[in-house]
Amino acid sequence: MEKILVLDFGGQYNQLIARRVRDLQVYAEILPYTVPLEQIKANNYKGIIFTGGPNSVFDPASPHYTPEILELGVPILGICYGCQLICHMAGGEVKTAPSSEYGKITFKHAPSPLFEEVPELSTVWMSHTDYIATPPAGFAITGKTLDCPVAAMDNKDKKIYAVQFHPEVTHSEFGKQMLANFLFRVCGCQGDWVMDNFIEQKIQELRQSIGSQNVILGLSGGVDSSVAAGLLSRAVGKQLTCVFVDHGLMRKNEGDEVEKTFTQLFDMNFIRVNCADRFMKALKGVTDPEEKRKIIGTEFFEVFWDTIREQRDKGFFAQGTIYPDCIESGKGDADVIKTHHNRVNTPGDVQFAGILEPLCDLFKDEVRAVGEKLGIPKALVWRQPFPGPGLGVRIIGEITAEKIAVLQDADWVLRDEMAKNGYEKELAQFFCVLPNVSTVGVMGDHRTYDHLIAIRAVTTDDFMTADWAKIPFDILSQVSNRITNECAHINRVVYDITTKPPATVEWE
Ligand code: XMP
Repeated sequence: MEKILVLDFGGQYNQLIARRVRDLQVYAEILPYTVPLEQIKANNYKGIIFTGGPNSVFDPASPHYTPEILELGVPILGICYGCQLICHMAGGEVKTAPSSEYGKITFKHAPSPLFEEVPELSTVWMSHTDYIATPPAGFAITGKTLDCPVAAMDNKDKKIYAVQFHPEVTHSEFGKQMLANFLFRVCGCQGDWVMDNFIEQKIQELRQSIGSQNVILGLSGGVDSSVAAGLLSRAVGKQLTCVFVDHGLMRKNEGDEVEKTFTQLFDMNFIRVNCADRFMKALKGVTDPEEKRKIIGTEFFEVFWDTIREQRDKGFFAQGTIYPDCIESGKGDADVIKTHHNRVNTPGDVQFAGILEPLCDLFKDEVRAVGEKLGIPKALVWRQPFPGPGLGVRIIGEITAEKIAVLQDADWVLRDEMAKNGYEKELAQFFCVLPNVSTVGVMGDHRTYDHLIAIRAVTTDDFMTADWAKIPFDILSQVSNRITNECAHINRVVYDITTKPPATVEWE
């Protein structure tokens, strides 16, 4: 398989670069700048992309790489900091500008393989303070902006290309074309990264590593574990056992839908552990959000591992870990941070033949594409992020069975209206919250004193910051009418118009 290396110098768009490359059907992997040259050589990459980064090449503590990388004969594309680093490494002159160039800028290019099929003038996204004053010997200037004398340069003989702007962000009008030019015209890639190939290869690989042993997978009903379950089922059928712990804090009918999907569409052993009562007991009288989270997490894993302990011939333990969970980041100089936040630790007394992570090479959108190809229903494949503690953190204060039912009903109406109006994929997350507030209302000639429901809907790319969704008033009005008419014990609906920060997405 053709591979592109995205060499990570700590920039904020590094995952985006790899995703863009993969969108163009070429496999890209991200490695931190601390990866040894020998490892790069051994991987036979078709090309290397140096990412951006927050540092200045003048800072001795900033991430650097051995200049030998420029002599490997492997095509290189430097982006932003990566562009300055190539200049610095190859003996050119980088300077610090008195002010930063930031935002959408008009870029003018000269002929270069990188700019084939790109108009001479186009908009690019810039975000830099240092700039290239003089390119290194052997490099030609291939583009400039009003403030940036060397916005692009190349050394065609060595197949080294560099741009000061960010072609990976959509604000760069022809950025995708430029990346395609690098991959196909400069690196000579064919584009063999397609999900059909991935599925076929992965199924073969899984069959080989699993042999005649069994596999156990924890199924949460989320996208990643569902797709992992689908893939493993196609590979080894009944050798797979999925354990689905239903804590009773899922959305309306969600547990039944998960069970139906995996028992009817896939060949596997499916264990659903219905333990809502156990969770309700453990949560009785608890109001503190963190305490609730802790209890739900602890109970969940206790039930999960107890169920697994009962299984004979356990074989392998599979997880739905995806690529962003495993990437080593090149941020910072000394410490390479490895994030494993979605990996589950196995208790010491439960032994497995090994761990399987069949999705660990895939980004979320690729996981979804695989899910669709495997025939997993769209509702599951496109499911929004749903917190592990479920509705437990969407009911403020003490959780009771009555409150869960009220919230589930309202949330179901919201989801139905959002789907009807085409908002399912457009919004990052939408849901109802039960703030544990009763308000006075009037129904017919009677006074009511019932629940208030809040609607939360956000747009965001990364969930670190978020904006409240500007859903048209007539749709909000329809949602409110339906909730108050169709759901018992709700007499008021409010819409949360707070950004994150200062609020968070969830209310607890
Ligand atoms: P916040 O509320 O922190 O949410 O702005 C950001 C994203 O994280 C999800 N979230 C959670 N996910 N366990 C999870 O698995 C949790 O305890 C939890 N709390 C928040 C939230 O739904 C949003 O997608």
